[in-house]
Amino acid sequence: MSVYDAVQEAAAAIVRAIAPRLPKVGLVLGSGLGAFADGLEAPAAVAYKDIPGFASSSVVGHAGQLVAGKSGGREVLCMQGRVHAYEGHPLAQVVLPVRAMIAAGCKVLIITNAAGGIRHDYNPGDLVLIADHINLSGDNPLIGENDERLGPRFPDMSTAYDPELRMIAHQQAYAEGLVLKEGVYAWLKGPSYETPAEIRMLRTMGADLCGMSTAPEVIVANHMGVRVLGISCVTNKAAGLGGKLSHDEVKETAERVRPQFVGLLSRLCATLAP
Ligand code: HPA
Repeated sequence: MSVYDAVQEAAAAIVRAIAPRLPKVGLVLGSGLGAFADGLEAPAAVAYKDIPGFASSSVVGHAGQLVAGKSGGREVLCMQGRVHAYEGHPLAQVVLPVRAMIAAGCKVLIITNAAGGIRHDYNPGDLVLIADHINLSGDNPLIGENDERLGPRFPDMSTAYDPELRMIAHQQAYAEGLVLKEGVYAWLKGPSYETPAEIRMLRTMGADLCGMSTAPEVIVANHMGVRVLGISCVTNKAAGLGGKLSHDEVKETAERVRPQFVGLLSRLCATLAP
């Protein structure tokens, strides 16, 4: 089956499962950040295993379902958990859910993640808007034959993280009593965390945050012409800048910022829905 057909098939299954809802805003909720979907009104959930082509996430802290429902009066569609390249999935599989949400009608995507803070002034619990990314994976989800029905062969990435959406996010954060920092996200495949030497290299390169997700999803969203807002929750200081790194710390910090994070996402859904 072609990638295009796989996307259409998955999108059709999603539309059927959440009917009559027609969400225009899609969210990807990263490690420990899935709680937002638990607060949606009139929710309808569909497990990844029930959507054709979807892989199930094996990572603790990732629920593995799509949840549609209302936030701030707007219909939204959330990925509660994602799959990662480090789980052994090919990138086409990693990005299928994002492509399917877009094919199902989402016009704006809010993509979130847990990330390590490289900048010295980033502390665990900070929420950071992603201004741009550096793809250090050596891979790209668009490698292979291009299907023009999905997007162009050589998509422009000059404004991959939409500047207008970032401005709105700053305004909404201010209204929520939060200060958002902005930074450049480096995508490495993991699953081992970075070494202190790698973090020094990343800082020299101009990266402020690092993580194991997001960039492939942002690449395919841009390919399909959809505007993206990226938000990182700094769950830990990057390697060599604090203590030892652990997935438990990542989950604990994400849990701690939950009220602020949920508050910000609710405002963003209310504002960004077309
Ligand atoms: N590095 C990579 N990915 C991460 C980190 C990190 O320090 N924290 C959360 N996800």
